[in-house]
Amino acid sequence: MAFSSYGAYWRQLREIFTTRLLSLRQIESFRHVRESETFAMVDGLFQNCKSAAAATPVNVSRLVGLLTNNMNCRMAFGRKFSEEEIDNRGFKDMIQEVFYLGGAFNVGDFIPWLQWMDLQRLVRRQKEAHKTFDAFIEKVIREHELHGDRDEFHADFVHELLALTRLDDDDEMKITRETVKAIIFDVLVGGSGTSTVALEWAMSEILLNPSIVKKIQEELDRVLGPQHKYVEESDLPQLEYLMAVVKESLRVHPPVPLLIPHECMDDCTIFGYDIPSKCRVIVNIWAINRDPTIWEKADVFKPERFVGNPIDVKGQNFEVLPFGSGRRGCPGQLLGFTVVELALANLLHCFDWRLPYGMNPNDLDMVEQFGLSTPRTQNLFAIPIPRQKVYALF
Ligand code: HEM
Repeated sequence: MAFSSYGAYWRQLREIFTTRLLSLRQIESFRHVRESETFAMVDGLFQNCKSAAAATPVNVSRLVGLLTNNMNCRMAFGRKFSEEEIDNRGFKDMIQEVFYLGGAFNVGDFIPWLQWMDLQRLVRRQKEAHKTFDAFIEKVIREHELHGDRDEFHADFVHELLALTRLDDDDEMKITRETVKAIIFDVLVGGSGTSTVALEWAMSEILLNPSIVKKIQEELDRVLGPQHKYVEESDLPQLEYLMAVVKESLRVHPPVPLLIPHECMDDCTIFGYDIPSKCRVIVNIWAINRDPTIWEKADVFKPERFVGNPIDVKGQNFEVLPFGSGRRGCPGQLLGFTVVELALANLLHCFDWRLPYGMNPNDLDMVEQFGLSTPRTQNLFAIPIPRQKVYALF
């Protein structure tokens, strides 16, 4: 869907996505999945803290990658999958590979007669990634075919997609097995990849700013009271500062900084420039989000700028556009935002976080990896220290 041109096929996919997976009702119905996965993540961290002799660094990037993938797989495919079920590199690295390849500058695209040489070996890597994802997605589909259509109450998204392939539509609108595979791919990459990147950057900024952690924890203590083991989704609307932290993180580190390439549909003139139809349009939201004429000290991470500010990240305000805007804007923004907020709230409600190996905040590598999405180049490691008042409740 993300890469298909505007037309009947895209409209159909978008409708399937928005009505069958990402409607308000569907998102709400999967709340228990998101909560149980998040709570299992913090339980696991508590267990580690109990058993480890000394405070051990946790690979936060991997942790949040697993979390978002488990959630998305359970919501869309009915169960979670172990890392090895996709590849020995695991989901996070495989998804990152797709993001890298999706944004890489391929010389052969611009000098076609060089294409066959595949000088940068990008095509070979694409084929390998395709093979890995295809085998995984085939497995998901075969499992669903084997278990047949369940009754309406239990049918998951993949069952519904497979049922659509049996409808007798005309050729253009026909949902084929290939279409189903493409949609599953979009869920994996579009859904898990972006939320993981958003979470690892939010945690990175938080580690750099202890005063922000303190403010988040004060808010959590005030809103939740003393007897809460976990933060539930129903608590999130009251956590105004936490919401501002997530927005600020999406402003400073938009997971898809150049959006997905757009295409001009008609000839038009913008600010005196003639733009021909079919022109590829790259929207630099990274630059928009950090525009110094809009944002004071634009490069500084300062969540307070979103407190009591009517400017939101949903695509209505062109000052900050982490989810794009308009017809091709992200259909998963409510789900993505909720996942990030819930995970962050629980990670900070249950733990204080320290940088490992005696590192100072200034030592933390904040370099982004180039690609369609911009994850951290280096995985983020940090030490979770249980917060005693929450720990005592377990
Ligand atoms: C924090 C999380 C997320 C961020 C930052 C994000 C960001 C984006 C961005 C920037 C775009 C391109 C918009 C444009 O080109 O104008 C996009 C498109 C898309 N996103 Fe997301 N996304 C997130 C979560 C999700 C989730 C959870 C799903 C689904 C499970 C999803 C599915 C998609 C799809 C299918 C498209 C293509 C839409 C189209 O072409 O019509 N995203 N997303």
